[in-house]
Amino acid sequence: MIVISIANNKGGVGKTTTALHLGAALADMGRRVLLVDLDPQSSLTVYLGYDPVGFDKNTYHIMTRRAEPYDVILSTSIMFLDLMPASIDLATAELEVSAAFSREFILKEQLDKLGERYDYVIIDNMPSLGILTVNSLMASDYVVVPVEPTYLAFKGLEMIVHTIEAVKKYNSKLSLLGTIITMVDERTNHAKDIVSKIRESFPVFDPIVKRSIKFADAAASGVPISTYAGDDFEGSKVYHMLAANLDAKVLKNSATR
Ligand SMILES: Nc1ncnc2c1ncn2[C@@H]1O[C@H](COP(=O)(O)OP(=O)(O)OP(=O)(O)O)[C@@H](O)[C@H]1O
Ligand SMILES: [Mg+2]
Repeated sequence: MIVISIANNKGGVGKTTTALHLGAALADMGRRVLLVDLDPQSSLTVYLGYDPVGFDKNTYHIMTRRAEPYDVILSTSIMFLDLMPASIDLATAELEVSAAFSREFILKEQLDKLGERYDYVIIDNMPSLGILTVNSLMASDYVVVPVEPTYLAFKGLEMIVHTIEAVKKYNSKLSLLGTIITMVDERTNHAKDIVSKIRESFPVFDPIVKRSIKFADAAASGVPISTYAGDDFEGSKVYHMLAANLDAKVLKNSATR
């Protein structure tokens, strides 16, 4: 079981979109995937078409040790793709978790109970590096960082790399698997410059994801982009290629670790 945190403390960079579409594409490849919504905004739960107030058991109960993973996991309309939904309650979990015993390791302790049920667990994080995100990093083998090609976002990547280094003291297997460049507007030179800057300093998964309003439309309809816009839409193909490249890199690393 490979656990991947999708993280960036910057908001609105495509974390949830990336978590959903990598998960859906890996499931399409026959990998058994669990998506974990660890953001009180519950966007991942919503993007999959669910109403986050509809679950009496969700990641809040996981993080406060009030439920076991199998009490919370639901299957989605996509074969091989399961979800641990979130709810707004998770916002209060931050406080409760901060006072709990071995508070940084609660998610790891919970996910360990799944054994080898899944090939991939993909955790969608909120735009902060608080106790929930620390739990995600402690439970993970890898971090994947979606990033927009702007100068500030590029500078922000250094901070994430520092955070990964700090967490490594407690979770030595954690590493940055790569960045995914999202919402690219290829008409601007600024975007092109920053894309090359990111490539010089950080591992980048190809292809890059272009900006398209269809992503927001698909999210509003509660379905993945390939269901909304078809398998031939460029954005659908791009996430399938990204998933294949990510899977190949993980397999290669597993062989040499
Ligand atoms: N490639 C894209 N082109 C255009 N819009 C996109 C793209 N990817 C995602 N979006 C849209 O941009 C918005 C923000 O994306 P998303 O929710 O994935 O970001 P996020 O990093 O998870 O945000 P938050 O930090 O709030 O959790 C959403 O409306 C989403 O549908
Ligand atoms: Mg999000």
